[in-house]
Amino acid sequence: MCGIVGYVGESQAKEKVIDGLKRLEYRGYDSAGIALPINGQIEIRKHVGEIKNLEKIINDESYNAAVGIGHTRWATHGAPSDINAHPHGNQDGSIAIVHNGIIENYQEIREWLTREYGVEFKSETDSEVIAHLIGIYYDGDLLAAVNRAVEEMRGAYAVAAIAADEPDKIVAVRKDAPLVAGIGKGCNFIASDIPALLKYVREVYFIENNETVVLTKDDIVIYDENGKQVKRDVFHVSWDADAAEKEGYDHFMLKEIHEQPKGIGETLLRRLDENGEINLDGITMTKEDIENFNKVYIVACGTAYHAGLVGKMIIEKLAKIPVEIDVASEFRYRDPFVDDKTLFIAISQSGETLDTLAALREAKSKGARILSVVNVVGSSVARESDDVFYTWAGPEIAVASTKAYTTQLICMYLIALYMGRAKGAVDDAQYKFMLDELKALPEKVEAVLKQEDAIAALAKKYHHKEHIFFIGRGLDSGVSYEGSLKLKEISYIHSFAIAAGELKHGTIALMDTETLVIALATQDFLYEKMVSNIVEVRARGARIVGLAKEGKDEIEKVSDEVIYVPECADEVSPVLAVVPLQIFAYYVAKYRGCNIDKPKNLAKSVTVE
Ligand code: G6P
Repeated sequence: MCGIVGYVGESQAKEKVIDGLKRLEYRGYDSAGIALPINGQIEIRKHVGEIKNLEKIINDESYNAAVGIGHTRWATHGAPSDINAHPHGNQDGSIAIVHNGIIENYQEIREWLTREYGVEFKSETDSEVIAHLIGIYYDGDLLAAVNRAVEEMRGAYAVAAIAADEPDKIVAVRKDAPLVAGIGKGCNFIASDIPALLKYVREVYFIENNETVVLTKDDIVIYDENGKQVKRDVFHVSWDADAAEKEGYDHFMLKEIHEQPKGIGETLLRRLDENGEINLDGITMTKEDIENFNKVYIVACGTAYHAGLVGKMIIEKLAKIPVEIDVASEFRYRDPFVDDKTLFIAISQSGETLDTLAALREAKSKGARILSVVNVVGSSVARESDDVFYTWAGPEIAVASTKAYTTQLICMYLIALYMGRAKGAVDDAQYKFMLDELKALPEKVEAVLKQEDAIAALAKKYHHKEHIFFIGRGLDSGVSYEGSLKLKEISYIHSFAIAAGELKHGTIALMDTETLVIALATQDFLYEKMVSNIVEVRARGARIVGLAKEGKDEIEKVSDEVIYVPECADEVSPVLAVVPLQIFAYYVAKYRGCNIDKPKNLAKSVTVE
């Protein structure tokens, strides 16, 4: 997904900008570019493909300046190409911009600029209109021109602009797309995301919606939409840039799979006090609020949605309150029944997924109380929520989400327990039992990770399969969806997940001797029913990899292979059951020679609709 980096300082802007762009590579992109003000003109250089292509065309010494803006693009309007890459310039080359987001009325603006000003557009992008708009309003004051230009724009944007006549500054503006200013010494930065800046700065300002910011080497001045100067608190980033390195693992995904015991432990630790009670530091939702809710709505996308599927079952079971769940892209367009008695839970690793953010705003406008489960501190979802349960997974770099999912599950348990307790639906014994089960998880996940070699061997055996099904019942069906998504995301194998009891109503028609079925059977009370479902597919010739808790070995009689996870309460088994599925997907992708951390067509953070 698109990334913005800008630097203003003493010299060598291009090095800082390129370095920042590389830090954002993990988000997925298809082209990159940079613009510098040189000798009264803006010189833009850009190239389709990886940043190294761009580096080859900017290494001449004469291409240098103390100010620069750069961008990594993930195509939305117009195919990936040199011309469609950012930055974009205005007609006479005196202005350049980089843009994240979508300008919804760009066609209208484009026609108007062509008709009234004879503007000739070079690219097919929506973003190019921004450079031309600023260009026609520019009269020696970039801030004024940017402010005037945004009056014409509808949609979502984070924009950074430079002008040839003011080669000592960057002006940036945002609406519904993240933007952060980094405070350096004798230099300052602008970026769409904090990781881009961590090598150089730790202190940042979050730029809020409809604010404009002017950066010079000694100053960062933020203005609200009325042009009034805004005082913003400095945010200190405590996480380490090195956390984003691979630390000896072949891929970020494998590293992140192995970081799960730590992430789970940390997420629990932050919410449990010394007496073992759930601590709600920073949470404003009271017992009375909880009693007042008549419904919970969980909304998310992708893996976060799958965490919500488990969350729904757990909250209903423990807190005895009806829970609806939806993918964010559907929720926002179907006038869902939400009111001030609804608790809306948004789950998002990045906290920047546009569909999730828009759904949150839709729910908020209808009076719902907003609780989010987010990994990135200070992200848009976090900032727009009434309360936040952070997942303490650390930065997740691989596009395929792993440690974010398991830590999201932990938050769902904590929320369910807290609500259940507040409503009197969870008694002391059950509360203590569940907390003990949760606290035991880091060690049990470690035990599952020790089976990596055996799971890799299974992956080696089956990596040539073209169709792999995942089945399960109850909580296992939720985990099946996640296992299947992991596999298709990174190995490109066709995969399908279905509640096992539903197989006989259609999908079983697809089973034959070429099919592999991964059958999850970790729910004690559904175990026998699951064994029957396995027998049904086996009778059609499918090969079976069973997944069960230690001690539940009857499954061996109906499976070709079995993976065991440690004994645990049914409720928490998703945290253990998903880990072998993540490892399996990882090794299948590896044996198929796939680009594991950056799968084709996917982006880590999807900030467009
Ligand atoms: C993208 C990513 C997925 C992720 C989803 C939701 O599709 O590729 O891995 O699950 O977005 O992202 P979020 O940051 O909101 O959890």
